[in-house]
Amino acid sequence: MEKIEQIKEDLKQVLSEKRYIHSIGVMEMCEKLAKIYGVDIQNAKIAGLLHDIAKETTSEEKLEYAKQNNIEIDEIEKTNPQILHGKIGAHIAKVKYGVSKEIQNAIEYHTETNPNMDILAKIVYVSDKIELNRKDDNFEIKYERELATKDLDETVIYIINANIIKLIKKQKLIHPTILKTRNALIKAKLDKKSTL
Ligand SMILES: [Fe+2]
Ligand SMILES: [Fe+2]
Repeated sequence: MEKIEQIKEDLKQVLSEKRYIHSIGVMEMCEKLAKIYGVDIQNAKIAGLLHDIAKETTSEEKLEYAKQNNIEIDEIEKTNPQILHGKIGAHIAKVKYGVSKEIQNAIEYHTETNPNMDILAKIVYVSDKIELNRKDDNFEIKYERELATKDLDETVIYIINANIIKLIKKQKLIHPTILKTRNALIKAKLDKKSTL
């Protein structure tokens, strides 16, 4: 069986129908953006399909998996183990499907982002938020879908900003990595402007 078909069958076993449909949507959006930004289409599809493979385990299971597999966790992840599904998903993708480091990083970074995100990681991050199965009854997602076809970095910044605002309103913890990623992207933008 082709790798993607095998992964789809496996995902049906570990994800709810809703999350499975979301994962297919992310895979399709990754394919679309990979074509626009010149990234390997197969890699993008596999990363998108697998990104939430570890999402539907309990917090206890996530902490236990991290412990068993020597996955480092920080204070914020300990308080909110759900965000570990990026790191754990990347690990499962490596051991179960032997995916490349680039795909592992893209899966890992889709939760907390990373200042070193490459184009593939940015595509997965953005696709997760704008895939076509998500409800699109608000201005933001429509704008993000439009922007994603034109400027990937700008879309990542826009989504990060929206996320930070949401977290602040809900009095939730903000992972410092997301601020580092935002700073790196804004700095790259400013540097680009100053050389024009
Ligand atoms: Fe996720
Ligand atoms: Fe997702």
